[in-house]
Amino acid sequence: MYILGNWKNSLSSEDSKKLAEALHTHINGRYHDINIVLFPDDTSIETVSLLFDSASMVKVGAQDGPLGSNTTLTGSISLPNFGKFCDYVLLGHSERRMLLGETDEMIAQKAALAIDVGVIPVICVNNGDGTKIDPYFDLKAQLESILDHIDSKSEFVIAYEPIDAIGTGIPADPEEVKNIAGIIHETSFISRNVKGSPYIPLLYGGSVNDKNIKSFLSLEGIDGVLVGNASLTADSFLRIIKKVSDPKYLK
Ligand code: 13P
Repeated sequence: MYILGNWKNSLSSEDSKKLAEALHTHINGRYHDINIVLFPDDTSIETVSLLFDSASMVKVGAQDGPLGSNTTLTGSISLPNFGKFCDYVLLGHSERRMLLGETDEMIAQKAALAIDVGVIPVICVNNGDGTKIDPYFDLKAQLESILDHIDSKSEFVIAYEPIDAIGTGIPADPEEVKNIAGIIHETSFISRNVKGSPYIPLLYGGSVNDKNIKSFLSLEGIDGVLVGNASLTADSFLRIIKKVSDPKYLK
């Protein structure tokens, strides 16, 4: 079970530190069955990562990763810092795909590099612009082109975040998410049908909070959630974690 908090660029470094400290107080040594991962902005990764030592159940990730090992790239996190402070990395978030024109090739390249340095990619896919006859065309195309470039034996996570559910307070219909989970698992299985390929955990993201989380976590094929707004205060994030730690939601 995965509970991921994407803080985006919503918090000052002081507020990131305070939030991390509050979570540390309440989480450390508890919730051993949940993979909790926090994604602060780059200025706070080191602080948050040092707070949660290796014994803690909380892991830390970057919101984007380096594109190449030998490329000089202004604006990128350095590879050594990335490998040192991050356990996970979010890649291909639809905000970056839309605002920065990130392509599946770039996302696949970043994923391969992350895997090389021991960082687990969380690859975000979405439902596209809704203009195709096959409503799942964009989703399948994103998945296939990324999976094609990643070693079948490597560990990573997929997060499905429908564009109109992000930051709107209106989550996707759980029935639709269940169908899409089936399509994602099937597409991934076909692309990676190699003996020894690990199971790929699938997360749902988009306006998740403590009130609606149950309807997503109870879905077949959904292994966790990627939370934006509701991860920005200790109270709301802890409410989610407490709900999830209820034995009936633990898969
Ligand atoms: P919200 O939970 O604020 O809708 O954000 C979702 C998201 O983009 C997480 O990556």
